[in-house]
Amino acid sequence: MSYEQVFSASIGDPEAYWAGNAEAIDWIRKPARVLDNSRPPFARWFPDGVLNTAANALDRHVDAGRGEQAALIYDSPVTDTKKTISYRELRDQVARFAGALARLGVVKGDRVVIYMPMVPEAAVAMLACARLGAIHSTVFGGFASPELAVRIDAAAPKVVVSASCGVEGSRVLPYKPLLDRAIELSSYKPEHCVILQRPQAEAELQAGRDHTWADSVAYAEPVPPAEVAATDPLYILYTSGTTSTPKGVVRDNGGHAVALCWSMEAIFDTQPGDVFWAASDVGWVVGHSYIVYGPLLAGATTVLYEGKPVGTPDPGAFWRVISEHKVNNLFTAPTALRAIKKEDPEGTHTRRYDLSSLRHLFLAGERLDPDTYQWASDLLGVPVIDNWWQTETGWPVAANCLGLGAQPLKAGSPTKPVPGYDVRILKEDGTDAAPGEEGAIAIREPLPPGTLQTLWQDDERCKRSYFTTYPGYYLTGDGGRFDQDGYLFVLGRMDDVINVAGHRLSTGTLEESLARDPEVAEAAVIGVADELKGQVPVGFVVLKAGEHGDPEALRKALVARVRADVGAVAALKQIEIVPRLPKTRSGKILRATMRAIAEGREYKVPSTIDDPAVLDEIAALFSASAA
Ligand code: COA
Ligand code: AMP
Repeated sequence: MSYEQVFSASIGDPEAYWAGNAEAIDWIRKPARVLDNSRPPFARWFPDGVLNTAANALDRHVDAGRGEQAALIYDSPVTDTKKTISYRELRDQVARFAGALARLGVVKGDRVVIYMPMVPEAAVAMLACARLGAIHSTVFGGFASPELAVRIDAAAPKVVVSASCGVEGSRVLPYKPLLDRAIELSSYKPEHCVILQRPQAEAELQAGRDHTWADSVAYAEPVPPAEVAATDPLYILYTSGTTSTPKGVVRDNGGHAVALCWSMEAIFDTQPGDVFWAASDVGWVVGHSYIVYGPLLAGATTVLYEGKPVGTPDPGAFWRVISEHKVNNLFTAPTALRAIKKEDPEGTHTRRYDLSSLRHLFLAGERLDPDTYQWASDLLGVPVIDNWWQTETGWPVAANCLGLGAQPLKAGSPTKPVPGYDVRILKEDGTDAAPGEEGAIAIREPLPPGTLQTLWQDDERCKRSYFTTYPGYYLTGDGGRFDQDGYLFVLGRMDDVINVAGHRLSTGTLEESLARDPEVAEAAVIGVADELKGQVPVGFVVLKAGEHGDPEALRKALVARVRADVGAVAALKQIEIVPRLPKTRSGKILRATMRAIAEGREYKVPSTIDDPAVLDEIAALFSASAA
């Protein structure tokens, strides 16, 4: 069937469509019902199905004779380690670590927070939770203690799994002190922590609470996969919203397994035995879906890379990994390629390696700019496939579905809606925009399997955030348009969420941190276009009345404060001290106008502005720094 036929079938009769795709999964109890949509917007897929996600990702491939195939290749230039783990070995490690968690009291439905660098044990811990039917909440290593504390409080985990340290380029970053501090800050205190001791920096353990990974598994018995309802949560993954409180996206087991398994072939043209490398981090949705679950559900080999695109040791790092592990499909963020291009614009490092295994380059996480698209296409000679999605959806909403017959590529577009997603461009009045006309990108309910179930313990916030602006539709937060051929063009966020090096950040979180400084009366943060990172945050602060010391020292202190509150990932390096912020008469900060000024774009003075002279003050600041 062609893409068009599959797409129509998926929208015309979603139940029949996904019932067919559910056949690819091993069910403990096959679902008799496909969709329970009795409580919109909370669509529940396969409501009476029972399965185990980890068994689908591991055991069934071993049982089908793939036991000796590589399941996971760990490549870590920062620790000079390479390791291949077969499906049989990974299943056994997961079963044993699940046993270790069970010994610590973890049972179905319990939460486990995972705060780990890019080591195989991170994937083992996630899959072990899935084996038990426990719910993991994996926190990106670049977040600081206060952010980790918020997630510990929200999940109330029986166990936190972490490591003694991460290795970022040439720096060893101790994780354990960050975890200890987070537990000090959180109101909820986990009973146990399991710590992977790494030789680069061993951690001190707290007797009674902390256990080493090695000891935990030494005394554990492997456990069989639990029977898990399709609608039970598999994981919580926090993402940035417009306020400073992160949103805990909840993913289920059944819909997730069906959708991800389907996506590997239909979107990513990846078959069992292929080598798939998502150069991302297990702490982000790309890592959840396409380092851990997707490739393993599909019986492919996944690459887990602990390194950077540049500096570990050079801009040929990605090409080395492709050639050494015969990677067929690479998935990364455009920013990684821009980093490589900056250091090796001619792509000379590719000549040192045999890249003949590579079939496609998939890019997502931020806008794919035409220069990067062209550079990568010319350099690698393979199709460069942009795909657009978000933490909430869990898998691509728009992409060139290679497994359904590739569509011609158009630079600047992630191609067309993926089957299952009835994507619409809505005007402010909620009606459909015409081709070429811009509007809010929305998805008609019900959302397909594998997308967000709700926000953790907050159905109301889920409804309010995504489903009330346009009743009957999920609001993505991005703006865009369709062209005459039905290609989607994504124009970026319509809210105050920013995207820095493919990482989604809330300006609200950064502002809250700045505003906590005793010298600061008010703060605003905007995302300004950046050649390497796509966007970088720029902070504006208004100081309290009275005497203030050296402005440079204050700026430095504010940068350090945000780093300590939010984490290195916040990457807030520029702070401007201003006499006041541009606002509407009702007090709303005019961030979009500030952004236009900071980026040197034309802007209209909003009719709602309280005092237009404030814009001149901001403009003077940027024209001074440009000069
Ligand atoms: N643990 C601890 N710290 C981390 C971290 C982690 N897992 N990941 C990043 N950081 C730190 C970095 O070391 C850096 O610290 P610094 O300010 O002391 O230098 C800071 O967080 C900002 O990181 P980043 O925005 O990644 O910038 P960078 O300069 O280190 O690297 C790129 C720039 C482009 C090379 C890098 O962002 C990259 O490889 N991006 C790939 C895209 C990606 O993975 N996207 C995820 C979604 S697909
Ligand atoms: P996250 O939830 O962290 O994956 O971030 C999702 C957001 O990143 C989306 O809402 C978009 O704003 C942006 N994004 C992701 N992929 C793309 C893409 N291919 N093109 C443009 N923006 C993207």
